[in-house]
Amino acid sequence: MNASAPVPAQTTGREAVIRVRDIVVKFGERTVLNHLDLDVFRGEILGFVGTSGGGKSVLTRTILGLVPKTSGTVEVFGENLDDLSERERSALERRWGVLFQQGALFSSLTVKQNIQFPLRENLKLSQRLLDEIAFTKIEMVGLKPDVAEKLPSELSGGMIKRAALARSLALDPEILFLDEPTSGLDPIGAGDFDELIKTLQQTLGLTVFMVTHDLDSLHTVCDRIAALADGKVIAQGTIETMMAATHPWLRAYFHGTRARAVQAAHG
Ligand SMILES: Nc1ncnc2c1ncn2[C@@H]1O[C@H](COP(=O)(O)OP(=O)(O)O)[C@@H](O)[C@H]1O
Ligand SMILES: [Mg+2]
Repeated sequence: MNASAPVPAQTTGREAVIRVRDIVVKFGERTVLNHLDLDVFRGEILGFVGTSGGGKSVLTRTILGLVPKTSGTVEVFGENLDDLSERERSALERRWGVLFQQGALFSSLTVKQNIQFPLRENLKLSQRLLDEIAFTKIEMVGLKPDVAEKLPSELSGGMIKRAALARSLALDPEILFLDEPTSGLDPIGAGDFDELIKTLQQTLGLTVFMVTHDLDSLHTVCDRIAALADGKVIAQGTIETMMAATHPWLRAYFHGTRARAVQAAHG
């Protein structure tokens, strides 16, 4: 499938909550995204893969409006982000949550205060309600209530990721952006985190855009996969579609030594 091929039949008729069209992003002379198109459908977990340094984080940040694009459009919930007033824009931003690659929490704030940060910025709530929400989110991501009063420096890597996830869920978003959420975790920690994402998607009806290079994640949690190479989406579909793709990078990635081990594990 080439970049300009129509969206596969199995996905037509579904609502694209994110529509990226003809996006070009350049840094100086270097073109990172080169007329890229992508849809993310309501309720799915889309795994976004590609070469390291290929522009996965740049695309994520472009969708979020954090990187200026040269041309192209990004629509979220049917709204062209370039057409929004500041007020409409912040209303829309409250409908998505983001967990960046570094997943950084504010180091001087407790977990509870970190989770409450976006709530305080956006809403006027009593301290009692703020606490209630923080404890709900802490439970939702599988942490014990006693982490609420801890500082990030007192937590393990996996706990920090969960706390950062709790913060990204503070405003009950409909879309969750995750940039390599399991990087830095051991395989068991990564598997547990993947399972949590899947559970949250199913119970909260989230749409998830997940940048990952983790083959286990692609097999176990992603409903669909899109692959980036040469600044474009070169293939998209199920894991089976990706395995059958002929592009050299996809063949190397999905049929390499690591891929064979993962496939054996997933039967
Ligand atoms: N703000 C920036 N200024 C200049 N170059 C950048 C900037 N952000 C990313 N890049 C470059 O864009 C390319 C894609 O980066 P990135 O999206 O982070 O890759 P990855 O696919 O690994 O997430 C890299 O070559 C990176 O150096
Ligand atoms: Mg990246």
